[in-house]
Amino acid sequence: MAFNLKGRSFLTLKDYSPEEISFLLDLSHQVKRERKSLNIMLRFRGKTLALLFEKRSTRTRCAFETAFGEEGGHPVFLSSQDIQLGAKESIEDTARVLGRMFDAIQFRGFKQENVDKLAEFSGVPVYNGLTDLYHPTQILADLMTVQEVFGSLKGRKLVYTGDGRNNVARSLMIGCSKMGVDYTVISPEELQPKNDLVEYCRNFSGESGSKIEIASDISTGVKDADVIYTDVWVSMGEEDKARERMELLRPYQVDSKMMAQTGKSSTIFMHCLPAVKGNEVTFDVIESSCSKVWDEAENRKHTIKAIMLATI
Ligand code: CP
Ligand code: NVA
Repeated sequence: MAFNLKGRSFLTLKDYSPEEISFLLDLSHQVKRERKSLNIMLRFRGKTLALLFEKRSTRTRCAFETAFGEEGGHPVFLSSQDIQLGAKESIEDTARVLGRMFDAIQFRGFKQENVDKLAEFSGVPVYNGLTDLYHPTQILADLMTVQEVFGSLKGRKLVYTGDGRNNVARSLMIGCSKMGVDYTVISPEELQPKNDLVEYCRNFSGESGSKIEIASDISTGVKDADVIYTDVWVSMGEEDKARERMELLRPYQVDSKMMAQTGKSSTIFMHCLPAVKGNEVTFDVIESSCSKVWDEAENRKHTIKAIMLATI
């Protein structure tokens, strides 16, 4: 079913219904097919996109730039060293100025409240390209990848192991609970998701049929997993926590033993990337045939194009 999402921002998956997420995923598969058959339609001709980055990025930046550029749009990369973002000028004023010049804005940075303010004051669609709290565009690519491998989402079991309260883990829990994917997080108590988010997600799981579980025992937690997913132990902005994270998370590394403990030979490995091989995942797992990380990275582009096509 088609939905009219014109003018909508994409700040967290909380704002999107399961039907709207399904629509965006269908559109993502469509634009991927178009791209593969070199059927490019210049749907962003005459449009401009501001790309604001306070933190580094490879995939998100390149996905936005290439998806927008190849459809005839003009993306403008602005790091926080280049513009007055919250330094000499308030976020609200920056938002109002950018909204007069651009058709859409992407923001990657620290505070969720800043991307929320950009959306409130710019008057154009704003996309969250990662904040300390959420990474919603990543999760669309992850769900798309699961659909490609397994054909469907409902009833699949995704196990996230590692830092269970970071931006990716939080967003995955929201996405999975809305889309009927069972979500288990295995992490030490200190790094488990907060109760309020777990309760929020459990509200959706009632409707979608997904089960949300918090586990600390690895062997029972990973049993029957279709997907084992992990992310870095130290997210951007938390570099001072590196030493304590290594100690806490070492037992949660994804290795071939953990992959075997699922009891399924079809289990795939996923990671949003960038990965620190030897920390959260062993070299042999990420380089094995069960690893879908490169498809997942490519799908960032198709899903981001779909979001922009739907909202601009
Ligand atoms: N997964 C992801 O967001 O990668 P980048 O940090 O390279 O954008
Ligand atoms: N949790 C990681 C994700 C990187 C894409 C971070 O915030 O650094």
